[in-house]
Amino acid sequence: MQSSVKHKLLEVFSKADGEFVSGQALADHIGCSRTAVWKHIESLRQEGFELEAVRNKGYRITGKPDKVSENELLIGLQTDQLGKQIVFKETVESTQKEAHKIAEESEEGTLVIAEEQTSGRGRMTRAWHSPKGTGIWMSLILKPNLPPVKAPQFTLIAAVAVAEAIQDVTGLTPEIKWPNDLLMNGKKITGILTELQADADRIRSIIIGIGMNVNQQAFPAELEDIATSLAIEKGETISRAKLVQAILKNMEIYYKEYVENGFASIKQKWESFAVSIGRHITARTVNGSIRGKAIGITEEGVLKLQDEEGIIHSIYSADIEIER
Ligand code: BTN
Repeated sequence: MQSSVKHKLLEVFSKADGEFVSGQALADHIGCSRTAVWKHIESLRQEGFELEAVRNKGYRITGKPDKVSENELLIGLQTDQLGKQIVFKETVESTQKEAHKIAEESEEGTLVIAEEQTSGRGRMTRAWHSPKGTGIWMSLILKPNLPPVKAPQFTLIAAVAVAEAIQDVTGLTPEIKWPNDLLMNGKKITGILTELQADADRIRSIIIGIGMNVNQQAFPAELEDIATSLAIEKGETISRAKLVQAILKNMEIYYKEYVENGFASIKQKWESFAVSIGRHITARTVNGSIRGKAIGITEEGVLKLQDEEGIIHSIYSADIEIER
């Protein structure tokens, strides 16, 4: 099937929101005969979409394949701008790398997403394990009219959007470990990597990479003690497309809130999920380790750490270990 026809059909079903659409209405919309509609419907079925057909009512979508390509993400996407342009790849070295390549000419809100990454990357040049078809490996391009110093706030905005998406879709509540880890039962479920293309005084593009462990049933030995998936925690598989849609919806809400009213209300939400605040921690920075009590984050998203002598340190980037 030509992909534009498929796209149009899925658009109509998305708007219908689970209700029946008559064969004639579909035919009118895509500009073909009802027999051709039937053929296109069959072709969608072959791709794993479940479509119910009822005489005198028409067709409706009752299920879609657990993929994260444009077609699956389109049905049920509730955003005005984020994710309206999707660059989907089956396999890619890193969605982050792809997003960097296209950022300049891309519309704000463009999403790069893949079924598999062969060279997924995390913070501090670590690798990010991204096996095929089980997780969410995506990079979102935003173009806020702000100076680069504001970029760290976007990691925290994304962390809140993702934490609430997990709650919305699974009913589970993750914890956020500053700055960018989402944990369940002390193990990592999501990592966020925020990167920039910027002039000295202005962000050109901010690329928010999100890696979420969704349906893995097991991890390689070296990750087993530190990583978990939503399926392991919930005891059932979870729709990745629904999660991506929820992340984009929340991200759009919080991005708008941030641009219109600043960081204050998002900071409060972030704190409500935060596991490290008020705890004794060790912060490993490039300049060495500092131990102390995490007393909060600033308006800029910087972590405040009070050491045993009462000196307050500003931590801009570090790995955090929470003491028992
Ligand atoms: C971290 O916790 O260190 C951040 C991990 C970020 C991983 C995501 S997966 C999608 C995007 N592409 C990458 O190569 N990395 C990010």
